[in-house]
Amino acid sequence: MTSASSVSAAPWREGPVLGIETSCDETAAAVLGGDGGLLSTVVSSQHAVHERFGGVVPELASRAHIEAIERITATALTESGLTWKDLAGIAVTQGPGLAGALIVGLNYAKALGYALDIPVVGVSHLEGHIASAWLQDPSFPPACVILVVSGGHTHLYRRDEHGRCLLLGRTRDDAAGEAFDKGAQMLGLGFPGGPALDRLAQTGDRAVFSFPRSSIRKHNLEFSFSGLKTALLYRLQAMDESEILARQADLAAAYQEAIVTVLVEKAFSAVRQAGCTALAVVGGVSANSRLRSLLTRRADDEGVRLSIPPLRFCTDNAAMIAAAGCRALHAGRRLGFDAEAMATWEPDVLMPTA
Ligand code: KG4
Ligand code: ZN
Repeated sequence: MTSASSVSAAPWREGPVLGIETSCDETAAAVLGGDGGLLSTVVSSQHAVHERFGGVVPELASRAHIEAIERITATALTESGLTWKDLAGIAVTQGPGLAGALIVGLNYAKALGYALDIPVVGVSHLEGHIASAWLQDPSFPPACVILVVSGGHTHLYRRDEHGRCLLLGRTRDDAAGEAFDKGAQMLGLGFPGGPALDRLAQTGDRAVFSFPRSSIRKHNLEFSFSGLKTALLYRLQAMDESEILARQADLAAAYQEAIVTVLVEKAFSAVRQAGCTALAVVGGVSANSRLRSLLTRRADDEGVRLSIPPLRFCTDNAAMIAAAGCRALHAGRRLGFDAEAMATWEPDVLMPTA
């Protein structure tokens, strides 16, 4: 929707798009070429800033974004081999996420778009994760089921051939990534816990302990992970410290298994219910090694075409924002000067294209 208050009134012309992502604790910028090929992607993680607090501190995140954004954007441009004048458009994450963190990227994108007089578009972080399914594999079918599994989301979508995504189900409480992070914290694995729990679980026996798998046999496409978290807490309370230490890897493996088997069951249930033959699994948790291997095996067995992005596109990055932004710019979406960060933006229908 082009409006008089758009950052730039310049028409969209096919060309390179700069993506900017600052929704949580990663400052990221990337450039996609006019042909959709990735020219550069740069991610600056704030893990060292937040580690000692055991979670992301919003105020510190905003400050770290302010300090990093110019450098990260300039690096992405340099690595792309282009100059500012070569850019045809800018895509920025408008939400959901931390309000203060989003504002940094949003204002930077507006100022840059105004200075360069090129169109700017605000995209949803979810649209970005969804777009990551096609970054490595542009021939992946547009009509598919998509599972977004990240620190903030466990959402199942049905996507049609025009890119319209309809929400099929979501978590009622914690997101899968949150379940990983909280479980890891209880096991004393630090922050962010998902990758650490994944690594430790590879050395454990997942059959020693058994944790609840929420509504796994039901046909509904809703998720719930809070009961699992409580089950781990009770299990740990019933063990002494030396026992926990000796069984840490087995606990991690069993806990991880309870999360990933539910994700796999629900994703394939959605594929069946939607009458689809393609499944994309995206977001930070799709980096999990056990989830990737279970999904790959199951997709082979069931003859389902699977897209799981390479690891660098699973966790937050700006290549996915640029990719979603390209589609949105084509569709005529534009960011207005007065556009605000949308911290809780979680629409039931996502429409990246016209
Ligand atoms: O997509 P993302 O980078 O940020 C959000 O949009 O939230 O996802 C981050 C989440 C964190 O909860 C992190 O622990 C989890 O993804 N994660 C993993 C792995 N790598 C990242 N969870 C399990 N196994 C992993 N290997
Ligand atoms: Zn994310």
